[in-house]
Parts: sequence; C-alpha cells; structure tokens
Amino acid sequence: MDVMELFFVWLGAAVVVFYVIKIVSFVKMFYSGVLFLQPASFFTSMGEWAVVTGGSDGIGRAYSFELAGRGLNIVILSRTKDKLDQVALEIGQTTGQKVKVIVADFTEDDEYEQIQEELKGLNIGVLVNNVGILPSHIPSKFLQIRNLTQRITEVINCNVKALVKMSQIVLPGMEKRGKGVIVNISSGVACVPSPMYTMYCASKVFVERFSQGLQAEYKEKGIVIQTVAPFGVSTPMTGYLKPNLVTMTAEDFVRTSLKYLKAGDKTYGSICHTIMGWILQSVPLQIIHSERMQDCLREYVNKRVGS
Ligand SMILES: NC(=O)c1ccc[n+]([C@@H]2O[C@H](COP(=O)([O-])OP(=O)(O)OC[C@H]3O[C@@H](n4cnc5c(N)ncnc54)[C@H](OP(=O)(O)O)[C@@H]3O)[C@@H](O)[C@H]2O)c1
Repeated sequence: MDVMELFFVWLGAAVVVFYVIKIVSFVKMFYSGVLFLQPASFFTSMGEWAVVTGGSDGIGRAYSFELAGRGLNIVILSRTKDKLDQVALEIGQTTGQKVKVIVADFTEDDEYEQIQEELKGLNIGVLVNNVGILPSHIPSKFLQIRNLTQRITEVINCNVKALVKMSQIVLPGMEKRGKGVIVNISSGVACVPSPMYTMYCASKVFVERFSQGLQAEYKEKGIVIQTVAPFGVSTPMTGYLKPNLVTMTAEDFVRTSLKYLKAGDKTYGSICHTIMGWILQSVPLQIIHSERMQDCLREYVNKRVGS
C-alpha cells in the first residue's frame, strides 16, 4: 500500500468513526430517561438555590419556574424590577419556593460587585447563564447595525462578559462543596458562521468554547457544565414565533433540554433541534454565505417583524 492509499484508508476510517459517534449520541437521546437518569432529588442535592440571568422572561423565566418546581429557591436577575417582582410572585404562589430578585443590566460593565454582595452566603447549586441579546432584531451586516459602537460594547458585555463574571462569582462555592450545575445558553445558529448575525453568533461561539473548557477543568470536582444551543424558541426575542414542530415554547424547551443535562458538554436541547444542527452543518457554506441567502433572510425576518 503506498502512502496516498494509506492516507485515504485512514481518512475514510476517521470519517466513519466520526459519524458512528454522532449517530450513537443521537440515538442515545431517545433513551434519555434510562441513560441520563436524574433522581427526583438531583437538583436539590446540588444546593438550595438556582441563579438565572435574564430570568424574568422567555427561556430564563421557564428555567426559573422549572427549577423552582424541582424544589430550588430561585434568584432571578434582569433589568426591569416590575417584571422581576411579578415573576417572583408567580413562582412563589405556584411552587412555594423562595425567590430573590436582583436588578442588573448586563450590558453595563460594573454590576458584579453588587451581584456578588447579594448572592453572598447563598448555597447555590445551579447557575443558568441565560441572558443574551441580538445586536439588531433585523438581520444586518456588521456596519449596518444601528449605534454600532454602543452595540458592540453591549453585546460583548451581555453575551460574553456576563457569563464569565457570573461563573467567577458562583463557581468557587460549587468547587468548595464539590457539586453544582452550570447551564450556559448558546444558540443553534452558532454551529456555522452565520452572516447577518455575525456578532451574535461569534459571541455564542465564545459561550460554547468557554463552557466546554470549563467543564473539562471542573468535571473532576463534581460540577456539571453544559452548553445548551437552541434553535427557535417562542419568546420575546423571537417575537413570540408561533410554536410548531420546530419552534418550541420556552417551557417545553427547558423541560426537554434538562433531560439531556448529563448527555455531554453540549446539547441542542431537543431531538428536533439536534436534527436542525445536523442539517445546517451539512448545507455548503457557499449557500449560507451567498448574498442571495442573506437578502432572503433579511426579507423574511423584516416581513415577520412587520406583520
Ligand atoms: N429564543 C430563541 O429562539 C433563542 C434561540 C437561541 C438562543 N437563544 C438564547 O437564549 C437566551 C434567552 O433568550 P430569550 O429568547 O429567552 O430572550 P428574551 O425573550 O429576549 O428574554 C430576555 C430576558 O433577559 C432579560 N434581559 C434582556 N437584556 C438584559 C440586560 N441587558 N441585562 C439584564 N437582563 C436582560 C430580559 O428582561 P429585561 O428586559 O427586563 O431586562 C428577559 O428576562 C439568550 O441567550 C438567547 O441568545 C434564544
């Protein structure tokens, strides 16, 4: 066998192994109840409190309700006091758990001393780094984003810095207790370079790399750290897209994705969104990156937002 032949044999074998691993982990999703079993006390065994950034609406709100339903007290953080108080009241009434609210704007630089102070002394078992913003609701090329200078700072502070700083605040307690769960919300679209959402996608790639590296560092300490990368979820961010086979309600998405918490350092959170990730990654980038496709995307979202 000459060198070229050997190279192609090894390349073929590597491709087969790669797809076998992908298929096996996909098939495992159908047996999550058995393979990734969580006892009913799993979350309460991690600690008494869960902290959810952006917890007053959308996916964060759904995490707050779900984790309270599983017996944790909740700390919710976002900008609007009225919304936080209302959600706190509803969680308290429906689950009987304690809820603490912290008003914080993650686009700002200097919120963390106050947050650290407010979280002091709490036995935090779960952190959901959920808060995230789009630079622009209408898909736009980088230089076409309105107030670009300001938006660059806001997106990096909110989507990147918040996750790192909240981990810095919460992780030491988890390390000391030798247990904890950190869920970091990325996005399905970050699985390929997505023009018109360039800054958003790049910030979510940061979320994934940070999360996966951190999991490798702290796995041995008993801490589960997972990136969750949804596609469509019906929330204010997506203009409350009508739920269907592909677009999930926030409540359904959170409930489903928590089943895969032990399925590895990254999950799309549902079988349907996993398939979408596969499809998106198999579309040639020349198509996704073509001007025609970018125009179609902008027209589609424009029409939807306008309607
Ligand atoms: N929805 C989807 O289809 C989808 C898909 C992929 C990934 N994601 C990701 O999932 C996460 C949650 O998305 P979502 O759709 O639930 O978002 P959302 O509907 O826009 O909800 C955002 C939450 O974050 C808070 N928030 C917004 N800006 C904030 C800021 N600067 N500082 C503090 N809190 C802030 C909001 O409350 P206030 O406005 O009162 O501050 C609200 O509680 C994000 O990271 C997003 O990128 C969403």
